[in-house]
Amino acid sequence: MIHIIKKILRKLHVFLCGVTTHAPEYKGVIDVIIGPQWGDEGKGKIVDKYATDGKYDMGVRFQGGNNAGHSLVVNGKTVVLHTIPSTIFTTKSLIGDGVVINPVDLVAEIATVKASGGDPLLNLIIGDRAHIILPTHIMLDKAQEEMKGGGKIGSTQKGIAPVYTDRSARNGIFIGEIFHQNFKNHVHEIIEMHKKQLSLYSASIDENQITEAFKTFYTAIEEIKKYKFVSTPYFMNDCLKRGEKILAEGAQATMLDLSFGTYPYVTSSRTVATAIPSELGVSVHYLRNVVGVFKAYLTKVGAGPFPTKIEGDIAKQLQDAGHEFGSTTGRPRDTGWLDLPLMKYAIMINGITELVLTKLDIFDVLTTDIKVCTGYKIGDIVTDRIDFNLVDKIDKITPVYKTFPSWHGEKTEGVQEFDDLPDNAQAYVEFLEKELGVPITFISVGPGKNDVIEYN
Ligand code: GDP
Ligand code: IMO
Ligand code: MG
Repeated sequence: MIHIIKKILRKLHVFLCGVTTHAPEYKGVIDVIIGPQWGDEGKGKIVDKYATDGKYDMGVRFQGGNNAGHSLVVNGKTVVLHTIPSTIFTTKSLIGDGVVINPVDLVAEIATVKASGGDPLLNLIIGDRAHIILPTHIMLDKAQEEMKGGGKIGSTQKGIAPVYTDRSARNGIFIGEIFHQNFKNHVHEIIEMHKKQLSLYSASIDENQITEAFKTFYTAIEEIKKYKFVSTPYFMNDCLKRGEKILAEGAQATMLDLSFGTYPYVTSSRTVATAIPSELGVSVHYLRNVVGVFKAYLTKVGAGPFPTKIEGDIAKQLQDAGHEFGSTTGRPRDTGWLDLPLMKYAIMINGITELVLTKLDIFDVLTTDIKVCTGYKIGDIVTDRIDFNLVDKIDKITPVYKTFPSWHGEKTEGVQEFDDLPDNAQAYVEFLEKELGVPITFISVGPGKNDVIEYN
């Protein structure tokens, strides 16, 4: 009886006070572009294409730092972006709070964008809770890798693991702090802490080098102050409430995700689509399409398991034709066959709703059959499910391959219509789409924004 009276009183209260009990209306949307593999799938080019075609109001990076290298072709010239979103040439572009920023490299990148015809003063926006990469984070990254000896991760040595460690350990410095009076004191405290850490790694501490590095650092900080700073959650939510369409650009990729990648051979941020709400301070309700950009084969830089890795002539042919050298470090990328169990895992984790296939044209050079891994043989069992965190297990598996004839003598490069692709290339794409169970919307056959076949 008391229950019923309370319920009536609550309803009366809601009625009299005019409190609405309806769920809020979510007007704007966030579409996402992420990599399902080990990075360098061509995300930058596809973000640029989507931004141009999709009439997005804003692009946003939500994680990672300048360990990323995203290539796009602007006015016939390749531009590689590291921290600035690949939408910078088309619309306003936010470096969101989950990102880590190296101020010196950001200033250099801003100069590149300007030289390529972009207007960062107009389009660049920086989230004030993005963390700062200090020169000593880079020294620590190198020292930690050195200490690992044979067990190196193969980091890009951009200070990524140390800066995210400081963030988790609550020692980080927000980029917004550059406007605070106490900024230099805070930086100084952290430098002293880093020096102690460096000495634990027996790394030599060159005081002159540190002084010089911080001089350059503070010059860059003054330069960055010219740009627009915002509170990411309020800014994002205001845009979304106005009904804006936002394109979130993932860096690195699913197999490099801190939680779900081939740990410990991963990066130190959450790279998957589900990281977006938590890193940008927006509701999960805004997420709409999740686009997985995947290469027709696999590449990987750095150490760690790679079940479908290939060596010898075919690997060299793919590496040369695909210019498979890191956009950030110039290191050669290992190559391997496309791995469908890995792709299915990434589709599941990210909730990928559409796929974009890139670099199909690189297979134009192959004279031998093309392989696709359809399952893993572990002992007597064939499976397409594996816990990718179990690095020791992943090394013991034998990939099961399906073979496709190459299309040597014919070309996919520059083709604009699916029906004009070589029959063998069409069969390869159709097989992938059927196996993966997600529509392939575009097939990319060259580095330019327009080197794309609309498929679905
Ligand atoms: P991201 O990190 O995912 O943005 O990829 P990267 O820019 O690091 O690496 C992709 C490389 O492939 C770049 O050099 C692109 O210019 C190039 N690229 C992208 N898509 C294609 C394609 O379909 N064909 C060819 N030949 N090159 C492509
Ligand atoms: P984009 O966004 C490919 C790899 C490094 C190393 C591991 C950890 O261009 O696809 P880190 O410096 O992050 O501590 O390195 O992650 N890695 C990438 N590989 N593409 C990337 O970014 C990468 N960013 C980091 O090679 O194996
Ligand atoms: Mg890259």
